[in-house]
Amino acid sequence: MGSGIAETAAVNGFDVVLRSRSQSTADATLATMEKSLNRQVEKGKKTEAERDEALARVTVTTALTDLKDVDLVIESVVEDLEVKKELFNELDRSTAEHTILATNTSTLPVIELAMQTGRPDKVCGVHFFNPAQVMELVEVAKPLTVADETVAAVRAFAEACGKTPVEVKDQAGFIVNALLFPYLNNAVRLYEQGVASVADIDTAMKGGCGFPMGPFALLDLVGLDTSLAILDALYQEFRDPNYAAVPLLRRMVAAEQLGRKSGQGFLDYRT
Ligand code: 3HC
Repeated sequence: MGSGIAETAAVNGFDVVLRSRSQSTADATLATMEKSLNRQVEKGKKTEAERDEALARVTVTTALTDLKDVDLVIESVVEDLEVKKELFNELDRSTAEHTILATNTSTLPVIELAMQTGRPDKVCGVHFFNPAQVMELVEVAKPLTVADETVAAVRAFAEACGKTPVEVKDQAGFIVNALLFPYLNNAVRLYEQGVASVADIDTAMKGGCGFPMGPFALLDLVGLDTSLAILDALYQEFRDPNYAAVPLLRRMVAAEQLGRKSGQGFLDYRT
């Protein structure tokens, strides 16, 4: 997701500092971006010059201090509240006073991240969708402490990236995931109950509802670990059985069958 967001910003003319925990993950993220831009050149959607200009706007680093001159940080690390809290604490110390600190979380409480900083009025959610380069929507999540100017600046950034922003309360799942994940979870339940096969459930939802992807292709795209973390966070917030992850999903994550990123999920990507 980080690579998709960075690509989107760079393609739309923003200078990007891509900070990763290690040099190897930083290089891998840049390689993913290069691959994606090369594909667009091959398809004739971009010129080689446009690709090169976008890549030239991206700097890769492992040091948080290299973020000291940026106007906006978009955090996109693992969906783990403690990890994100610690990072926001460090970001508060490594960035300029005016920098907006935004999180790409979809389910964790943005207010808890805001309160890790000395600038809770400059912290909000900016939630992109997979694949970030393609999906139009950005949810701007507003914790109780956020200032109107911060929301306006983040909306303006999203629009400059060609996205449509919507504003939403700081509540787990915001709009899209609160509605999407009960559906994805129930698809796993149907399959687990032996009602239909993975392929037929995907075919049914594409053909019957006009969805671009069936639920299993989408779960594999999002990642089963991310999907499980989202369901767990939704359940934690609302205690609604609709959000209680189906056991098969938890077992597949334990088996490291995570979807596209691991080569196998509900579908097989190894060939
Ligand atoms: N990276 C970059 N570009 C991509 C891409 C990727 N991973 N996947 C597809 N694209 C581009 C293609 O290059 C193509 O671009 P073009 O029209 O300019 O040539 C365009 O997207 C369409 O791709 P394809 O023709 O290959 O395939 P499809 O028409 O099937 O579209 C899809 C692929 C856009 C992924 C479409 O299937 C889709 O919209 N699926 C639903 C995705 C969705 O629901 N996402 C939300 C997930 S929830 C989420 O992200 C929330 C988070 O919190 C978990």
